[in-house]
Amino acid sequence: MYSEKVMDHFTNPRNMGEIENADGVGTVGNAKCGDIMRIYLKVENNVIQDVRFKTFGCGAAVATSSMATELVKGKTIQQALEITNAAVAEALDGLPKAKVHCSLLAEEALHAAIWDYAQKNGIVIEGLEPPKEDIHEEEEDEDED
Ligand code: FES
Repeated sequence: MYSEKVMDHFTNPRNMGEIENADGVGTVGNAKCGDIMRIYLKVENNVIQDVRFKTFGCGAAVATSSMATELVKGKTIQQALEITNAAVAEALDGLPKAKVHCSLLAEEALHAAIWDYAQKNGIVIEGLEPPKEDIHEEEEDEDED
């Protein structure tokens, strides 16, 4: 049911934990299941130098957070914003359809952390919207394969 990469990132998550004095912190909840994710960013010269996450959620949420942090580390803020939940799922060799909504947590938490970073530094990032309170079910339709 899960790819080897999902199992690998679930059993051996990368970048788990928190960053003290993070430049941006984003927390989101998944309204469908009640799971929560928080992402911490360290940003220098518009580049994500370090990223950590904490997930109170299912295995797919842990695996997608882990992969998302791997994908954004070392990237510029703009490059990080281009990484979608579908790209994270693809990097994991796919997710079962019923678990696609879990991958939204990572994308939304990352966007919320970047939003927080931008707010703290008075930066306006075009196209970046304020974090939502909760991720809603209908958004999982984004990933049609
Ligand atoms: Fe909640 Fe996966 S079941 S994030």
